[in-house]
Amino acid sequence: MLNKILELKKKRNAVILVHNYQRKEVRDIADFTGDSLELSRKAAKTNADVIVFCGVHFMAETASILSPEKKVLLPDLSSGCPMADMITAEQLIQFKKENPGATVVTYINSSAAVKAETDICCTSSNAINVVKSVKNDKIIFCPDRNLGSYAQKVLNKKLILWNGFCPTHMKMLPEYVIEQKKKHPNAKFLVHPECAPETVALADEVLSTTGILNYVAKSSHNEFIIGTENEITFKLQRTYPDKNFYPVTDLAVCPNMKKNTLEKVLNVLENMSNEVKVPRDIADRAIVPIRRMLEIS
Ligand code: 13P
Ligand code: SF4
Repeated sequence: MLNKILELKKKRNAVILVHNYQRKEVRDIADFTGDSLELSRKAAKTNADVIVFCGVHFMAETASILSPEKKVLLPDLSSGCPMADMITAEQLIQFKKENPGATVVTYINSSAAVKAETDICCTSSNAINVVKSVKNDKIIFCPDRNLGSYAQKVLNKKLILWNGFCPTHMKMLPEYVIEQKKKHPNAKFLVHPECAPETVALADEVLSTTGILNYVAKSSHNEFIIGTENEITFKLQRTYPDKNFYPVTDLAVCPNMKKNTLEKVLNVLENMSNEVKVPRDIADRAIVPIRRMLEIS
């Protein structure tokens, strides 16, 4: 199967972009693995004709917006992000009416239609810089209320938060962290900002998925509690067998990220199926806040 994928990848002039949460066997065939910001940058720059995006739907949409002339294929079209689905363009339009004059900062975990109603996008790795760059005192932050709360706290600035959240990161309850800290008192706690504020408050560092991987790579510390999807914990444990990594809970799994498999990658390369294409009128508007974000980060 691996040979067939490599052969077809060459024939189609395709590049395989893979998010850090994907299954190990899918990460192993990646041309590039990364967090949302890194993957957006890659999608904007690649010379390939085809992008096979192993992630969730909004990530493939972002790739299609940034590279409209390329075919973007998502191995499993049902791999959505429940947080992204917690706000629609209609809801954001209404929210803007209720808060006139506000600048809209939207997390990249959102649909293309929502981005089209946005002033500037952000990811988990640049949210603080993006919010800091906005010169308006009135800022709507959507859809992740937890990332918004984190930015609010760091910048000591009140934001108008949409009530969205990630069901996977909300499973990392503060009591689980406290339990792990009791068991492993010397462990550093690294957390993703999609966790609830009470969980984030217990962290030594608040980082994106790649941020967590890079932090461990540079650290001389031997023990870590990892507050994000468990693929990161497994990857770290395999990469550093002499160090110890503890998940906050075994429940921290994103079922949508796990839907992409090698069989499905092969299938889309064979049939050029499962294309994610953002309609031109939406893409033309959605690219503006994404470009603004890429310019400042
Ligand atoms: P990163 O950009 O940190 O990889 O986060 C993406 C995501 O969906 C986390 O749940
Ligand atoms: Fe969406 Fe959460 Fe899965 Fe990330 S982990 S893709 S935010 S559901």
